[in-house]
Amino acid sequence: MKDVLERLEDRRAEARLGGGQKRIDAQHARGKLTARERIELLVDKGSFEEFDMFVQHRCADFGMEKSHIPGDGVVTGWGTVNGRTVFIFSKDFTVFGGSLSGAHAAKITKIQDMALKARAPVIGLFDAGGARIQEGVDALGGYGEVFKRNVIASGVIPQISLIMGPCAGGDVYSPAMTDFIFMVKDTSYMFVTGPDVVKTVTNEVVTAEELGGASVHAVKSSVADGAYENDLEALLQMRRLIDFLPSNNTEGVPEIPSFDQPDRIDMSLDTLVPDNPNKPYDMKELILKTVDEGDFFEIQGKFAPNIITGFARLEGRSVGIVANQPMVLAGVLDSDASRKAARFVRFCDAFSIPILTFVDVPGFLPGTSQEYGGLIKHGAKLLFAYSQCTVPLVTVITRKAFGGAYDVMASKHIGGDINYAWPTAQIAVMGAKGAVEIIFRADMNDAEKIAARTKEYEERFLSPFVAAERGYIDEVIMPHSTRRRVARALSLLRHKAAETPWKKHDNIPL
Ligand code: HXC
Repeated sequence: MKDVLERLEDRRAEARLGGGQKRIDAQHARGKLTARERIELLVDKGSFEEFDMFVQHRCADFGMEKSHIPGDGVVTGWGTVNGRTVFIFSKDFTVFGGSLSGAHAAKITKIQDMALKARAPVIGLFDAGGARIQEGVDALGGYGEVFKRNVIASGVIPQISLIMGPCAGGDVYSPAMTDFIFMVKDTSYMFVTGPDVVKTVTNEVVTAEELGGASVHAVKSSVADGAYENDLEALLQMRRLIDFLPSNNTEGVPEIPSFDQPDRIDMSLDTLVPDNPNKPYDMKELILKTVDEGDFFEIQGKFAPNIITGFARLEGRSVGIVANQPMVLAGVLDSDASRKAARFVRFCDAFSIPILTFVDVPGFLPGTSQEYGGLIKHGAKLLFAYSQCTVPLVTVITRKAFGGAYDVMASKHIGGDINYAWPTAQIAVMGAKGAVEIIFRADMNDAEKIAARTKEYEERFLSPFVAAERGYIDEVIMPHSTRRRVARALSLLRHKAAETPWKKHDNIPL
Protein backbone atom coordinates (compact mmCIF):
# COMPACT_ATOMS: atom_id res chain seq x y z
CA MET A 1 0.00 0.00 0.00
CA LYS A 2 2.85 2.37 0.87
CA ASP A 3 4.25 1.94 -2.66
CA VAL A 4 0.87 2.70 -4.19
CA LEU A 5 0.55 5.89 -2.16
CA GLU A 6 4.07 6.91 -2.99
CA ARG A 7 3.43 6.29 -6.68
CA LEU A 8 0.46 8.65 -6.51
CA GLU A 9 2.58 11.29 -4.80
CA ASP A 10 5.32 10.87 -7.42
CA ARG A 11 2.84 11.26 -10.26
CA ARG A 12 1.33 14.31 -8.62
CA ALA A 13 4.78 15.84 -8.13
CA GLU A 14 5.59 15.20 -11.78
CA ALA A 15 2.35 16.86 -12.89
CA ARG A 16 2.95 19.85 -10.61
CA LEU A 17 6.28 20.44 -12.31
CA GLY A 18 4.48 21.21 -15.59
CA GLY A 19 6.98 21.99 -18.34
CA GLY A 20 9.92 21.62 -15.94
CA GLN A 21 11.96 23.73 -13.55
CA LYS A 22 13.78 25.58 -16.32
CA ARG A 23 10.53 26.87 -17.80
CA ILE A 24 9.13 27.66 -14.33
CA ASP A 25 12.28 29.73 -13.66
CA ALA A 26 11.80 31.51 -16.99
CA GLN A 27 8.19 32.23 -16.03
CA HIS A 28 9.34 33.74 -12.72
CA ALA A 29 12.13 35.68 -14.44
CA ARG A 30 9.45 37.39 -16.56
CA GLY A 31 7.72 38.52 -13.38
CA LYS A 32 4.92 35.97 -13.80
CA LEU A 33 3.66 33.32 -11.41
CA THR A 34 2.93 29.75 -12.46
CA ALA A 35 -0.58 28.44 -13.14
CA ARG A 36 -0.83 26.77 -9.72
CA GLU A 37 0.73 29.66 -7.79
CA ARG A 38 -1.92 31.91 -9.30
CA ILE A 39 -4.75 29.62 -8.23
CA GLU A 40 -3.39 29.48 -4.69
CA LEU A 41 -3.58 33.27 -4.48
CA LEU A 42 -7.03 33.46 -6.05
CA VAL A 43 -8.92 31.02 -3.83
CA ASP A 44 -9.32 30.64 -0.08
CA LYS A 45 -6.35 28.83 1.45
CA GLY A 46 -6.58 25.06 1.04
CA SER A 47 -9.90 25.20 -0.85
CA PHE A 48 -8.68 24.25 -4.33
CA GLU A 49 -9.52 20.80 -5.62
CA GLU A 50 -7.81 19.95 -8.88
CA PHE A 51 -9.34 17.74 -11.56
CA ASP A 52 -7.76 15.93 -14.51
CA MET A 53 -4.20 16.32 -13.33
CA PHE A 54 -3.05 13.33 -15.37
CA VAL A 55 -4.76 14.11 -18.66
CA GLN A 56 -2.42 13.98 -21.66
CA HIS A 57 -2.75 14.94 -25.29
CA ARG A 58 -3.28 12.31 -28.00
CA CYS A 59 -1.36 13.97 -30.82
CA ALA A 60 1.13 11.83 -32.73
CA ASP A 61 2.43 14.38 -35.26
CA PHE A 62 5.51 16.58 -35.41
CA GLY A 63 7.26 14.70 -32.61
CA MET A 64 4.41 15.24 -30.16
CA GLU A 65 4.17 11.45 -29.66
CA LYS A 66 7.44 11.73 -27.69
CA SER A 67 6.34 14.66 -25.60
CA HIS A 68 3.68 14.04 -22.98
CA ILE A 69 3.27 16.30 -19.97
CA PRO A 70 0.57 15.39 -17.42
CA GLY A 71 -2.11 18.06 -17.21
CA ASP A 72 -1.48 19.14 -20.83
CA GLY A 73 -1.03 22.85 -20.22
CA VAL A 74 -4.03 23.76 -18.11
CA VAL A 75 -4.81 23.36 -14.41
CA THR A 76 -8.52 22.99 -13.70
CA GLY A 77 -10.73 22.59 -10.66
CA TRP A 78 -12.81 24.48 -8.14
CA GLY A 79 -12.32 26.34 -4.89
CA THR A 80 -13.90 29.11 -2.86
CA VAL A 81 -13.47 32.87 -2.71
CA ASN A 82 -14.50 34.15 0.71
CA GLY A 83 -16.53 30.98 1.07
CA ARG A 84 -18.33 31.13 -2.30
CA THR A 85 -17.74 28.48 -4.97
CA VAL A 86 -15.84 29.35 -8.15
CA PHE A 87 -14.63 27.12 -10.96
CA ILE A 88 -11.18 27.84 -12.36
CA PHE A 89 -8.97 26.99 -15.27
CA SER A 90 -5.45 28.31 -15.31
CA LYS A 91 -3.30 28.03 -18.42
CA ASP A 92 0.21 26.70 -17.85
CA PHE A 93 2.56 28.56 -20.18
CA THR A 94 5.41 26.19 -19.26
CA VAL A 95 3.63 23.36 -21.09
CA PHE A 96 3.62 23.90 -24.88
CA GLY A 97 3.07 27.62 -24.24
CA GLY A 98 -0.31 26.86 -22.64
CA SER A 99 -1.60 26.06 -26.14
CA LEU A 100 -4.89 24.23 -26.49
CA SER A 101 -5.12 20.61 -27.67
CA GLY A 102 -8.26 18.48 -27.89
CA ALA A 103 -7.51 16.98 -24.45
CA HIS A 104 -6.74 20.41 -22.97
CA ALA A 105 -10.05 21.72 -24.36
CA ALA A 106 -11.93 18.78 -22.80
CA LYS A 107 -10.53 19.75 -19.39
CA ILE A 108 -11.87 23.28 -19.82
CA THR A 109 -15.27 22.25 -21.14
CA LYS A 110 -15.65 19.85 -18.20
CA ILE A 111 -15.16 22.81 -15.84
CA GLN A 112 -17.57 24.96 -17.85
CA ASP A 113 -20.22 22.22 -17.70
CA MET A 114 -19.72 21.70 -13.97
CA ALA A 115 -19.93 25.44 -13.30
CA LEU A 116 -23.14 25.76 -15.27
CA LYS A 117 -24.68 22.82 -13.38
CA ALA A 118 -23.54 24.23 -10.04
CA ARG A 119 -24.59 27.75 -11.10
CA ALA A 120 -21.23 29.15 -9.98
CA PRO A 121 -18.84 31.58 -11.73
CA VAL A 122 -15.97 30.50 -13.98
CA ILE A 123 -12.66 32.31 -13.78
CA GLY A 124 -10.13 31.70 -16.56
CA LEU A 125 -6.48 32.64 -16.01
CA PHE A 126 -4.95 33.01 -19.48
CA ASP A 127 -1.29 32.75 -20.41
CA ALA A 128 -1.37 30.87 -23.70
CA GLY A 129 -0.58 30.89 -27.39
CA GLY A 130 -3.92 29.71 -28.80
CA ALA A 131 -4.59 26.54 -30.76
CA ARG A 132 -1.83 23.91 -30.45
CA ILE A 133 -0.34 24.16 -33.87
CA GLN A 134 0.71 20.48 -34.03
CA GLU A 135 -2.89 19.32 -33.48
CA GLY A 136 -4.62 21.20 -36.24
CA VAL A 137 -8.36 20.72 -36.45
CA ASP A 138 -8.65 18.88 -33.11
CA ALA A 139 -7.49 22.08 -31.43
CA LEU A 140 -9.82 24.24 -33.51
CA GLY A 141 -12.72 21.93 -32.69
CA GLY A 142 -11.75 22.13 -29.04
CA TYR A 143 -12.00 25.91 -29.13
CA GLY A 144 -15.39 25.65 -30.80
CA GLU A 145 -16.59 23.56 -27.83
CA VAL A 146 -15.25 26.16 -25.39
CA PHE A 147 -16.78 29.09 -27.32
CA LYS A 148 -20.20 27.44 -27.51
CA ARG A 149 -20.21 26.92 -23.75
CA ASN A 150 -19.11 30.54 -23.17
CA VAL A 151 -22.24 31.61 -25.00
CA ILE A 152 -24.59 29.14 -23.32
CA ALA A 153 -23.35 30.26 -19.90
CA SER A 154 -23.51 33.96 -20.77
CA GLY A 155 -26.12 35.65 -18.59
CA VAL A 156 -26.48 32.54 -16.40
CA ILE A 157 -23.18 32.52 -14.47
CA PRO A 158 -20.52 35.25 -14.35
CA GLN A 159 -17.50 34.46 -16.53
CA ILE A 160 -14.29 36.35 -15.81
CA SER A 161 -11.03 36.28 -17.78
CA LEU A 162 -7.71 37.40 -16.41
CA ILE A 163 -5.00 37.79 -19.05
CA MET A 164 -1.63 37.08 -17.47
CA GLY A 165 0.76 36.45 -20.35
CA PRO A 166 0.99 36.61 -24.13
CA CYS A 167 -2.37 35.41 -25.48
CA ALA A 168 -3.31 34.77 -29.09
CA GLY A 169 -6.04 33.20 -31.24
CA GLY A 170 -8.62 31.24 -29.27
CA ASP A 171 -7.08 32.50 -26.03
CA VAL A 172 -8.35 35.96 -26.83
CA TYR A 173 -11.62 34.96 -28.51
CA SER A 174 -12.87 32.92 -25.58
CA PRO A 175 -12.17 35.78 -23.11
CA ALA A 176 -13.90 38.15 -25.52
CA MET A 177 -17.14 36.25 -24.97
CA THR A 178 -16.92 36.39 -21.19
CA ASP A 179 -18.30 39.16 -18.98
CA PHE A 180 -15.05 40.80 -17.92
CA ILE A 181 -11.45 40.81 -19.10
CA PHE A 182 -8.63 42.13 -16.91
CA MET A 183 -4.96 42.30 -17.83
CA VAL A 184 -1.59 42.54 -16.09
CA LYS A 185 0.49 45.52 -17.17
CA ASP A 186 3.74 44.85 -19.09
CA THR A 187 3.49 41.04 -19.00
CA SER A 188 0.21 40.32 -20.74
CA TYR A 189 -0.79 40.84 -24.36
CA MET A 190 -3.86 40.05 -26.41
CA PHE A 191 -3.90 39.77 -30.16
CA VAL A 192 -5.59 37.64 -32.77
CA THR A 193 -2.19 37.25 -34.44
CA GLY A 194 1.16 38.19 -32.88
CA PRO A 195 3.75 40.75 -34.09
CA ASP A 196 5.60 38.16 -36.24
CA VAL A 197 2.49 37.28 -38.24
CA VAL A 198 1.59 40.95 -38.55
CA LYS A 199 5.03 41.63 -40.05
CA THR A 200 4.70 38.74 -42.51
CA VAL A 201 1.18 39.62 -43.67
CA THR A 202 1.12 43.41 -43.64
CA ASN A 203 4.78 44.38 -43.31
CA GLU A 204 3.86 46.43 -40.26
CA VAL A 205 6.54 46.39 -37.55
CA VAL A 206 4.97 46.59 -34.12
CA THR A 207 5.90 45.50 -30.60
CA ALA A 208 3.71 43.18 -28.55
CA GLU A 209 2.86 46.07 -26.20
CA GLU A 210 1.90 48.38 -29.08
CA LEU A 211 -0.20 45.66 -30.67
CA GLY A 212 -2.01 44.29 -27.66
CA GLY A 213 -0.65 45.39 -24.29
CA ALA A 214 -2.73 46.68 -21.41
CA SER A 215 -1.96 50.22 -22.61
CA VAL A 216 -3.94 49.36 -25.77
CA HIS A 217 -6.80 47.25 -24.49
CA ALA A 218 -7.62 48.96 -21.19
CA VAL A 219 -7.35 52.45 -22.69
CA LYS A 220 -7.97 52.50 -26.46
CA SER A 221 -9.77 49.39 -27.68
CA SER A 222 -11.95 48.73 -24.57
CA VAL A 223 -11.32 44.99 -24.99
CA ALA A 224 -10.10 44.91 -21.37
CA ASP A 225 -12.06 46.17 -18.37
CA GLY A 226 -9.00 47.08 -16.33
CA ALA A 227 -5.29 46.41 -15.82
CA TYR A 228 -3.20 45.73 -12.75
CA GLU A 229 0.47 46.18 -11.87
CA ASN A 230 1.34 42.49 -11.36
CA ASP A 231 -0.09 38.98 -10.95
CA LEU A 232 -0.58 39.38 -7.20
CA GLU A 233 -2.57 42.60 -7.42
CA ALA A 234 -4.67 41.23 -10.29
CA LEU A 235 -5.60 38.07 -8.41
CA LEU A 236 -6.46 39.90 -5.20
CA GLN A 237 -8.65 42.31 -7.17
CA MET A 238 -10.47 39.33 -8.74
CA ARG A 239 -11.31 38.17 -5.20
CA ARG A 240 -12.69 41.64 -4.52
CA LEU A 241 -14.74 41.60 -7.73
CA ILE A 242 -16.23 38.17 -6.97
CA ASP A 243 -17.50 39.55 -3.65
CA PHE A 244 -19.67 42.03 -5.58
CA LEU A 245 -21.14 39.50 -8.01
CA PRO A 246 -24.02 37.08 -7.65
CA SER A 247 -23.06 33.45 -8.31
CA ASN A 248 -25.72 33.20 -11.01
CA ASN A 249 -28.69 34.95 -12.57
CA THR A 250 -31.28 33.75 -10.06
CA GLU A 251 -29.47 33.87 -6.72
CA GLY A 252 -29.64 37.65 -6.23
CA VAL A 253 -26.82 39.90 -5.10
CA PRO A 254 -24.57 38.87 -2.22
CA GLU A 255 -25.07 40.67 1.08
CA ILE A 256 -21.99 41.61 3.09
CA PRO A 257 -22.35 43.12 6.58
CA SER A 258 -21.86 46.90 6.37
CA PHE A 259 -20.70 49.15 9.19
CA ASP A 260 -21.78 52.26 7.30
CA GLN A 261 -25.13 53.64 8.47
CA PRO A 262 -27.60 53.83 5.56
CA ASP A 263 -28.96 57.17 6.82
CA ARG A 264 -25.53 58.79 7.08
CA ILE A 265 -25.75 62.34 5.71
CA ASP A 266 -22.86 64.22 4.11
CA MET A 267 -23.15 67.99 4.29
CA SER A 268 -20.19 68.50 1.92
CA LEU A 269 -22.38 67.29 -0.95
CA ASP A 270 -24.48 70.47 -0.68
CA THR A 271 -21.55 72.39 -2.18
CA LEU A 272 -20.32 69.76 -4.64
CA VAL A 273 -21.95 71.37 -7.68
CA PRO A 274 -20.23 74.71 -8.49
CA ASP A 275 -22.27 77.90 -9.05
CA ASN A 276 -20.92 78.20 -12.56
CA PRO A 277 -22.73 75.54 -14.67
CA ASN A 278 -19.71 75.23 -16.95
CA LYS A 279 -17.33 74.39 -14.13
CA PRO A 280 -16.58 70.71 -13.65
CA TYR A 281 -16.63 68.75 -10.40
CA ASP A 282 -15.65 65.18 -9.66
CA MET A 283 -18.60 62.81 -9.84
CA LYS A 284 -16.47 60.15 -8.15
CA GLU A 285 -16.66 62.20 -4.97
CA LEU A 286 -20.43 61.77 -4.99
CA ILE A 287 -20.12 58.03 -5.66
CA LEU A 288 -17.60 57.49 -2.87
CA LYS A 289 -19.61 59.55 -0.39
CA THR A 290 -22.83 57.71 -1.22
CA VAL A 291 -21.86 54.04 -1.19
CA ASP A 292 -20.98 51.78 1.75
CA GLU A 293 -17.54 52.52 3.17
CA GLY A 294 -16.52 54.36 0.01
CA ASP A 295 -15.82 50.98 -1.61
CA PHE A 296 -16.12 51.25 -5.40
CA PHE A 297 -14.85 48.67 -7.93
CA GLU A 298 -14.50 50.54 -11.19
CA ILE A 299 -14.98 48.85 -14.55
CA GLN A 300 -13.18 50.34 -17.59
CA GLY A 301 -11.81 53.23 -15.54
CA LYS A 302 -9.31 54.24 -18.22
CA PHE A 303 -11.61 53.93 -21.25
CA ALA A 304 -14.20 56.64 -22.02
CA PRO A 305 -13.75 58.24 -18.60
CA ASN A 306 -16.55 60.71 -19.42
CA ILE A 307 -18.80 57.99 -18.03
CA ILE A 308 -18.10 56.02 -14.87
CA THR A 309 -19.21 52.41 -14.38
CA GLY A 310 -18.57 50.02 -11.51
CA PHE A 311 -19.82 48.10 -8.52
CA ALA A 312 -20.47 49.28 -4.99
CA ARG A 313 -22.80 48.39 -2.12
CA LEU A 314 -25.66 50.01 -0.28
CA GLU A 315 -26.81 48.44 2.97
CA GLY A 316 -24.33 45.66 2.20
CA ARG A 317 -25.98 44.72 -1.10
CA SER A 318 -24.28 45.10 -4.48
CA VAL A 319 -25.39 47.82 -6.83
CA GLY A 320 -24.12 48.82 -10.29
CA ILE A 321 -23.21 52.50 -10.62
CA VAL A 322 -23.40 54.44 -13.88
CA ALA A 323 -22.49 58.12 -13.70
CA ASN A 324 -21.59 60.91 -16.11
CA GLN A 325 -18.23 62.48 -15.23
CA PRO A 326 -18.27 66.29 -15.69
CA MET A 327 -14.46 66.30 -15.28
CA VAL A 328 -13.98 64.67 -18.71
CA LEU A 329 -15.49 66.26 -21.84
CA ALA A 330 -18.10 67.80 -19.52
CA GLY A 331 -19.60 64.32 -19.11
CA VAL A 332 -20.88 64.24 -22.70
CA LEU A 333 -22.20 60.98 -24.14
CA ASP A 334 -20.14 59.88 -27.13
CA SER A 335 -19.96 56.54 -28.93
CA ASP A 336 -17.35 55.05 -26.58
CA ALA A 337 -19.15 56.15 -23.41
CA SER A 338 -22.46 54.81 -24.72
CA ARG A 339 -20.98 51.41 -25.62
CA LYS A 340 -19.15 51.15 -22.32
CA ALA A 341 -22.20 51.95 -20.21
CA ALA A 342 -24.55 49.82 -22.33
CA ARG A 343 -22.52 46.69 -21.77
CA PHE A 344 -22.28 47.37 -18.05
CA VAL A 345 -26.03 47.99 -17.75
CA ARG A 346 -26.76 44.73 -19.57
CA PHE A 347 -24.45 42.78 -17.26
CA CYS A 348 -26.22 44.22 -14.21
CA ASP A 349 -29.66 43.49 -15.63
CA ALA A 350 -28.73 39.91 -16.60
CA PHE A 351 -27.54 39.20 -13.05
CA SER A 352 -30.27 41.11 -11.17
CA ILE A 353 -27.93 43.80 -9.85
CA PRO A 354 -29.87 47.06 -9.23
CA ILE A 355 -28.52 50.13 -11.00
CA LEU A 356 -27.93 53.54 -9.46
CA THR A 357 -27.45 56.27 -12.08
CA PHE A 358 -26.00 59.73 -11.39
CA VAL A 359 -26.74 62.18 -14.18
CA ASP A 360 -24.89 65.32 -15.25
CA VAL A 361 -24.88 65.21 -19.02
CA PRO A 362 -24.86 68.09 -21.52
CA GLY A 363 -26.11 65.79 -24.32
CA PHE A 364 -24.63 63.66 -27.08
CA LEU A 365 -21.34 64.83 -28.62
CA PRO A 366 -22.03 66.54 -31.96
CA GLY A 367 -19.77 66.37 -35.03
CA THR A 368 -18.72 64.39 -38.06
CA SER A 369 -16.26 62.14 -36.28
CA GLN A 370 -18.99 60.92 -33.96
CA GLU A 371 -21.64 60.64 -36.69
CA TYR A 372 -19.28 58.80 -39.06
CA GLY A 373 -18.40 56.47 -36.20
CA GLY A 374 -22.03 55.50 -35.73
CA LEU A 375 -23.02 57.60 -32.71
CA ILE A 376 -26.68 57.00 -33.50
CA LYS A 377 -26.24 53.25 -33.21
CA HIS A 378 -23.89 53.37 -30.22
CA GLY A 379 -26.08 55.85 -28.33
CA ALA A 380 -29.04 53.60 -29.10
CA LYS A 381 -27.23 50.73 -27.38
CA LEU A 382 -27.37 52.55 -24.06
CA LEU A 383 -30.95 53.64 -24.62
CA PHE A 384 -31.88 50.06 -25.49
CA ALA A 385 -29.97 48.60 -22.55
CA TYR A 386 -31.64 50.82 -19.96
CA SER A 387 -35.06 50.43 -21.59
CA GLN A 388 -34.94 46.65 -21.39
CA CYS A 389 -33.88 46.57 -17.72
CA THR A 390 -36.12 44.81 -15.25
CA VAL A 391 -33.80 45.40 -12.29
CA PRO A 392 -34.48 48.31 -9.91
CA LEU A 393 -33.37 51.61 -11.47
CA VAL A 394 -32.73 54.54 -9.15
CA THR A 395 -31.63 57.81 -10.75
CA VAL A 396 -30.30 61.05 -9.31
CA ILE A 397 -29.89 64.12 -11.56
CA THR A 398 -27.27 66.35 -9.99
CA ARG A 399 -27.01 69.05 -12.65
CA LYS A 400 -27.52 68.88 -16.42
CA ALA A 401 -29.87 66.44 -18.07
CA PHE A 402 -30.13 67.81 -21.56
CA GLY A 403 -31.76 66.51 -24.71
CA GLY A 404 -31.82 62.85 -25.68
CA ALA A 405 -29.26 62.15 -22.99
CA TYR A 406 -31.92 63.03 -20.38
CA ASP A 407 -34.12 60.28 -21.77
CA VAL A 408 -31.26 57.79 -22.08
CA MET A 409 -29.84 58.09 -18.57
CA ALA A 410 -32.46 55.93 -16.82
CA SER A 411 -35.21 58.55 -17.03
CA LYS A 412 -38.69 57.83 -15.74
CA HIS A 413 -39.93 57.46 -19.30
CA ILE A 414 -37.76 54.43 -20.12
CA GLY A 415 -38.23 52.61 -16.84
CA GLY A 416 -36.60 54.55 -14.00
CA ASP A 417 -38.33 53.37 -10.80
CA ILE A 418 -37.33 56.18 -8.47
CA ASN A 419 -36.02 59.38 -10.05
CA TYR A 420 -34.58 62.09 -7.84
CA ALA A 421 -33.12 65.47 -8.71
CA TRP A 422 -30.94 67.78 -6.70
CA PRO A 423 -32.17 71.42 -6.49
CA THR A 424 -29.24 72.24 -8.84
CA ALA A 425 -30.66 70.02 -11.60
CA GLN A 426 -31.32 71.52 -15.03
CA ILE A 427 -33.64 69.42 -17.15
CA ALA A 428 -34.17 70.80 -20.64
CA VAL A 429 -33.79 70.10 -24.33
CA MET A 430 -30.53 72.03 -24.32
CA GLY A 431 -28.56 74.75 -22.49
CA ALA A 432 -29.89 78.35 -22.50
CA LYS A 433 -27.49 79.78 -25.09
CA GLY A 434 -28.19 77.13 -27.73
CA ALA A 435 -31.91 77.21 -27.05
CA VAL A 436 -32.25 81.01 -27.37
CA GLU A 437 -30.15 81.09 -30.55
CA ILE A 438 -32.60 78.72 -32.18
CA ILE A 439 -36.01 79.82 -30.94
CA PHE A 440 -35.29 83.56 -30.95
CA ARG A 441 -33.13 83.69 -34.06
CA ALA A 442 -35.01 86.77 -35.30
CA ASP A 443 -33.83 88.72 -32.23
CA MET A 444 -30.19 87.74 -32.53
CA ASN A 445 -29.01 91.29 -33.27
CA ASP A 446 -30.76 92.72 -30.23
CA ALA A 447 -28.44 91.99 -27.32
CA GLU A 448 -30.86 93.26 -24.70
CA LYS A 449 -33.70 91.09 -25.94
CA ILE A 450 -31.44 88.04 -26.17
CA ALA A 451 -30.21 88.57 -22.60
CA ALA A 452 -33.79 88.83 -21.38
CA ARG A 453 -34.84 85.72 -23.31
CA THR A 454 -31.83 83.79 -21.99
CA LYS A 455 -32.70 84.73 -18.43
CA GLU A 456 -36.32 83.77 -19.01
CA TYR A 457 -35.27 80.36 -20.41
CA GLU A 458 -32.87 79.74 -17.53
CA GLU A 459 -35.48 80.56 -14.93
CA ARG A 460 -38.22 78.56 -16.59
CA PHE A 461 -36.39 75.45 -17.75
CA LEU A 462 -32.99 75.16 -16.10
CA SER A 463 -34.36 73.78 -12.86
CA PRO A 464 -35.76 70.45 -11.71
CA PHE A 465 -39.20 71.90 -11.11
CA VAL A 466 -40.82 71.69 -14.55
CA ALA A 467 -40.03 67.95 -14.59
CA ALA A 468 -41.10 67.63 -10.94
CA GLU A 469 -44.40 69.40 -11.68
CA ARG A 470 -45.15 66.70 -14.25
CA GLY A 471 -44.10 63.81 -12.02
CA TYR A 472 -41.10 62.90 -14.18
CA ILE A 473 -39.01 63.47 -11.07
CA ASP A 474 -40.39 61.78 -7.96
CA GLU A 475 -38.77 64.16 -5.53
CA VAL A 476 -36.29 67.02 -5.40
CA ILE A 477 -33.85 65.97 -2.68
CA MET A 478 -31.16 67.62 -0.61
CA PRO A 479 -27.70 66.61 -1.86
CA HIS A 480 -26.57 65.85 1.70
CA SER A 481 -29.26 63.17 2.07
CA THR A 482 -28.47 61.35 -1.19
CA ARG A 483 -27.17 58.21 0.51
CA ARG A 484 -30.20 57.96 2.76
CA ARG A 485 -32.62 58.50 -0.13
CA VAL A 486 -31.06 56.02 -2.54
CA ALA A 487 -30.60 53.39 0.18
CA ARG A 488 -34.31 53.70 1.02
CA ALA A 489 -35.26 53.57 -2.67
CA LEU A 490 -33.22 50.43 -3.27
CA SER A 491 -34.68 48.82 -0.19
CA LEU A 492 -38.19 49.69 -1.39
CA LEU A 493 -37.47 48.10 -4.77
CA ARG A 494 -35.82 44.98 -3.41
CA HIS A 495 -38.57 42.68 -4.58
CA LYS A 496 -39.42 44.55 -7.78
CA ALA A 497 -41.24 42.36 -10.28
CA ALA A 498 -41.38 43.40 -13.93
CA GLU A 499 -43.03 41.42 -16.70
CA THR A 500 -41.85 41.60 -20.29
CA PRO A 501 -43.64 39.97 -23.24
CA TRP A 502 -42.25 36.62 -24.39
CA LYS A 503 -39.66 36.80 -27.12
CA LYS A 504 -36.82 34.60 -28.25
CA HIS A 505 -34.39 37.45 -27.74
CA ASP A 506 -34.26 41.13 -28.56
CA ASN A 507 -32.35 42.72 -31.39
CA ILE A 508 -30.12 45.30 -29.69
CA PRO A 509 -28.34 47.57 -32.21
CA LEU A 510 -24.84 46.03 -32.41
C1 HXC B 1 2.12 24.96 -29.87
C2 HXC B 1 3.17 26.73 -28.90
C3 HXC B 1 2.15 27.60 -29.35
C4 HXC B 1 1.08 27.04 -30.10
C5 HXC B 1 3.59 28.76 -28.24
N1 HXC B 1 4.03 27.50 -28.23
N2 HXC B 1 2.45 28.85 -28.94
N3 HXC B 1 3.14 25.42 -29.15
N4 HXC B 1 1.12 25.71 -30.34
N5 HXC B 1 0.08 27.79 -30.53
C6 HXC B 1 5.22 26.99 -27.57
C7 HXC B 1 6.50 27.44 -28.26
O1 HXC B 1 6.83 26.53 -29.26
C8 HXC B 1 7.49 27.38 -27.10
O2 HXC B 1 7.86 26.04 -26.88
C9 HXC B 1 6.65 27.81 -25.91
O3 HXC B 1 5.30 27.59 -26.28
C10 HXC B 1 6.82 29.27 -25.57
O4 HXC B 1 6.62 30.04 -26.77
P1 HXC B 1 7.59 31.21 -27.21
O5 HXC B 1 7.24 31.55 -28.60
O6 HXC B 1 9.01 30.82 -26.91
O7 HXC B 1 7.18 32.36 -26.19
P2 HXC B 1 7.04 33.93 -26.45
O8 HXC B 1 8.24 34.41 -27.19
O9 HXC B 1 6.74 34.53 -25.12
O10 HXC B 1 5.78 34.11 -27.39
C11 HXC B 1 4.48 33.71 -26.99
C12 HXC B 1 3.50 33.78 -28.18
C13 HXC B 1 4.09 33.04 -29.38
C14 HXC B 1 3.27 35.28 -28.53
C15 HXC B 1 2.17 33.22 -27.68
O11 HXC B 1 4.54 31.74 -28.92
C16 HXC B 1 3.12 32.87 -30.50
O12 HXC B 1 2.92 33.81 -31.27
N6 HXC B 1 2.56 31.65 -30.63
C17 HXC B 1 1.68 31.31 -31.71
C18 HXC B 1 0.35 32.05 -31.59
C19 HXC B 1 -0.66 31.60 -32.60
O13 HXC B 1 -0.61 32.05 -33.74
N7 HXC B 1 -1.52 30.63 -32.23
C20 HXC B 1 -2.52 30.04 -33.07
C21 HXC B 1 -3.74 30.95 -33.05
S1 HXC B 1 -5.06 30.32 -34.01
P3 HXC B 1 9.24 25.61 -26.22
O14 HXC B 1 9.28 24.13 -26.35
O15 HXC B 1 10.30 26.32 -27.00
O16 HXC B 1 9.19 26.09 -24.80
C22 HXC B 1 -6.22 29.89 -32.90
C23 HXC B 1 -7.50 29.45 -33.50
C24 HXC B 1 -8.66 29.58 -32.57
O17 HXC B 1 -6.04 29.94 -31.72
C25 HXC B 1 -9.90 30.02 -33.24
C26 HXC B 1 -10.16 31.48 -33.08
C27 HXC B 1 -11.50 31.93 -33.57
